[in-house]
Amino acid sequence: MGLFKIKEWSINYNHFFDGLALGSDFESLAELYHENSKYHPSLFSLQCPRPMPERQVVIDNYINKIELPTADKLLFPEISLGEILMKRRSKRKFGDPITFQELAIILSYSVGVSSVDEIVKENKVNYLFYRTYPSGGGIYPVELYFYINQVDDLQSGFYKFVPESNCIYLLNINQQEDKDIDDMYFFIKEDSNTEESPFGQAAVNFFFVANMQIITKYYGLRAYRLVQKEIGHIAQNMLLVSTALNINAVPIEGFFDDIVNKKLHLDGIKNIATYSILLGKEKKEDNKND
Ligand SMILES: Cc1cc2nc3c(=O)[nH]c(=O)nc-3n(C[C@H](O)[C@H](O)[C@H](O)COP(=O)(O)O)c2cc1C
Repeated sequence: MGLFKIKEWSINYNHFFDGLALGSDFESLAELYHENSKYHPSLFSLQCPRPMPERQVVIDNYINKIELPTADKLLFPEISLGEILMKRRSKRKFGDPITFQELAIILSYSVGVSSVDEIVKENKVNYLFYRTYPSGGGIYPVELYFYINQVDDLQSGFYKFVPESNCIYLLNINQQEDKDIDDMYFFIKEDSNTEESPFGQAAVNFFFVANMQIITKYYGLRAYRLVQKEIGHIAQNMLLVSTALNINAVPIEGFFDDIVNKKLHLDGIKNIATYSILLGKEKKEDNKND
């Protein structure tokens, strides 16, 4: 049950689809990973998750910090969960801006802090922040980056949301033009505006970034599985909140990983961009034509 190490697998692309290149007992790299990340009763004492870490969120490279209104000041639309679920559809037509208030609702309700526990240990007070989505071990290894293209009253550029401070930070990284946003993506279904790319048209492009270093410390090989599940929870929240606000949204797998990693100044190994959501309002003229 030892680990199998594959060297330089990325130079042989055959196994991207058919797994032919491995020549081991395993048919594909995915199977190899899955097999090696299974929990086993006999190994559980070695595999069980380590204790939860204390974490401090530090953002040192930003130009501007903007505080969001607290959730109690943000009115969630009056629509039932049942209606939202039945109404949600992936929509790829954008062009009009969203408001700062709408962005704040999306962030607070999809990703924000929903309760805080005070823990006193050895005369020291610690706070445990819980968010609107579940996280294995309460580690919250997923960080939310986004490119603002069209949000009323906000400068366009790359931002990061920090739920614990309820702030968004305009990052001090090369702020891109819309056309550069297009370079990050390659796949979109055809119901979008045909002449203009929906990527650069979205009001906001979200990127879910996994801090693999921190989660791997506590979950070992299982970490990659946990992160994908957690991102699914967050993304679904965001799609449902957007639906409630009548804002179009679509989740996107079709992006060039390392182009996004580079733009966000991530190393692509310890911190990895793993999913994206485009979101915005359909241009008013397009709306009338439908
Ligand atoms: C993991 C995942 C990745 C997706 N990636 C893309 C994508 O790259 N481009 C795109 O246009 N739609 C993408 N979608 C949206 C699907 O095309 C869409 O969910 C599907 O057609 C069903 O439609 P619905 O979301 O309206 O129910 C993705 C959906 C999921 C769950």
